[in-house]
Amino acid sequence: MAREFRLRPSPNADEATSESGYSLDRRRFMRYSFNSAAGVITMASLGSIGFASLLMGTKDDGGGNNSISYWVPKGQEATVWYGSKHLDTMKKSDFEGQSQTSTTKMAGAQGVWGGMPVTVVYVPHEENKNSPISSGLPRFQFKDGVDQTGAIIGFGGEMEEDPKWSTLKIHDNIVIIMSRCTHLCCIPGWQLVANDFTADNWLPGGLDSGGNKLFCICHSSRFDPTTIEKNTNINKSTGAAFNYFGIKRTGGPAPVGIPLIPFSVNNDVLEVIDFEAEGVVEILDWYTYCN
Ligand code: FES
Repeated sequence: MAREFRLRPSPNADEATSESGYSLDRRRFMRYSFNSAAGVITMASLGSIGFASLLMGTKDDGGGNNSISYWVPKGQEATVWYGSKHLDTMKKSDFEGQSQTSTTKMAGAQGVWGGMPVTVVYVPHEENKNSPISSGLPRFQFKDGVDQTGAIIGFGGEMEEDPKWSTLKIHDNIVIIMSRCTHLCCIPGWQLVANDFTADNWLPGGLDSGGNKLFCICHSSRFDPTTIEKNTNINKSTGAAFNYFGIKRTGGPAPVGIPLIPFSVNNDVLEVIDFEAEGVVEILDWYTYCN
């Protein structure tokens, strides 16, 4: 039986009344989440500093396509490396090629899957993981994670060791991240604005210093896509707390990190894993912290 989710009323009344109350299945949930994100950004009135360029629309993929598509932020067609790929299917080889143009050999892009904004980040982990950390070469790291009070609730490396989370294991030098900020649900981006946090450099330890952070333009929260933590957050509809694995929040008002999305690489195409079919339905709860 399809899993249903009860959500709070959407800021878009037309959308809310067109659905069956506020009880949504997965496909409609993803679309709802995406539209709400755009509404939050619109209300934030950030156009004066160009942040309206981050508004993202909805790709209706019919609910049966697990591939991820590029999403080119408005006005950035000429500045992002994937500017000519809007709504093209994301391929691993694209990121491998682009990574060769950077100092750190990292590459990232904004995308959309099932109506939900995502950020994809390539890190040359396999090439660098055995080099001394003092070499300063990027790789994924696992750290203890905290709740909103700062209390440690678990270790990011649990997802590598516990068979239950096997779909989340780091592979193919890539992480896919839900692109909703844990502060007020704006859409963080990878190198969409230029500052010290987004510059093409890397420091170990999940620190706020060093570049290549996901940067949320609404209130300047930062997230390190190379540092994986176990975190906790709250389902906005039910008030229930849940634990999840995600990238570390390093600074700004966001209280915790952002959840990972399990994926596979199928003939070079990035595809989200059907985590319900894999028997880990709680992963869907990880994406309920926004309206
Ligand atoms: S919504 Fe991201 S920092 Fe406020």
